Amino acid sequence: MDLAGMVAFVTGGSGDVGAAVSRSLASAGADVALSYVGNADGAMRTADAVQALGKRAVAVQIDQRDPAAIDAAARQVVEGFGRVDVLVNNAAWNIGIPFKDLDALTADVWDRVLETNLRGPFLLSRALAPHLRAHGCGRIVNIASIGGLYPMSSSIAYSASKAGLIHLTRCLAVALAPDVTVNCVAPGLIEGTRMAKRLPPEVVDAVREQVVLGRTASIADIAAQVVAFCRAESVTGQVLVVDGGGPGCMR
Ligand SMILES: NC(=O)c1ccc[n+]([C@@H]2O[C@H](COP(=O)([O-])OP(=O)(O)OC[C@H]3O[C@@H](n4cnc5c(N)ncnc54)[C@H](OP(=O)(O)O)[C@@H]3O)[C@@H](O)[C@H]2O)c1
Repeated sequence: MDLAGMVAFVTGGSGDVGAAVSRSLASAGADVALSYVGNADGAMRTADAVQALGKRAVAVQIDQRDPAAIDAAARQVVEGFGRVDVLVNNAAWNIGIPFKDLDALTADVWDRVLETNLRGPFLLSRALAPHLRAHGCGRIVNIASIGGLYPMSSSIAYSASKAGLIHLTRCLAVALAPDVTVNCVAPGLIEGTRMAKRLPPEVVDAVREQVVLGRTASIADIAAQVVAFCRAESVTGQVLVVDGGGPGCMR
């Protein structure tokens, strides 16, 4: 699919990955709506970068734990741009809680992680489905994590939320075919990001030592893969790992 003239909605566009994805989609020709929850300055920087590439941009505030806010934001984006062709479910929240410390993983933390990382992407997909279907060539790309493929990440809740997002990808690929493709990028640790900085340094060192390339996931590769999924005509329900070559994901 040629992305020129298309409209993409990137959640978490104020964050590290969302900013890169927004710029890559704009470089490929799409106008970009992007969401943030608290970091308005980051969202404006991303919007400015998209506009500098000659594309339209709008930043929308959503707490995607709130179903009413999701519906309102979807309406705002559709009203503003007249259409939405691509949804990138990138926004997420994490907190470092060792797997063995079950008591630290409270019901409140569990709910915050699952509502943000799994229910939010479903509700956004549902709200935008009629618009993604409208021209017969919609795209959803979910940003999960290798923590959704094997049990190692910032917390059990985060791992479970990303496993759910990976399976949601497959379920929505069935539900929205043939008008919308639904695919997923599963990054490993991305050094230097705000999210990675919430992890203990020894965890980051251990990940770098495990990956066969000796370097962790590249934001540029993740953004490029999002664009590749959007361009593809016959790929749906797939998960692509970008992690520097973790042996655990080579199967
Ligand atoms: N960084 C990594 O090492 C890594 C590894 C594997 C997977 N990933 C995945 O990659 C994606 C992007 O991560 P990142 O590194 O770019 O993280 P980030 O810089 O922390 O960005 C997270 C984004 O999510 C938004 N967000 C958080 N809670 C939200 C809520 N309740 N409602 C709406 N938006 C909310 C944030 O908004 P504000 O900026 O306004 O707070 C921000 O835009 C996530 O899905 C993450 O799980 C990251």
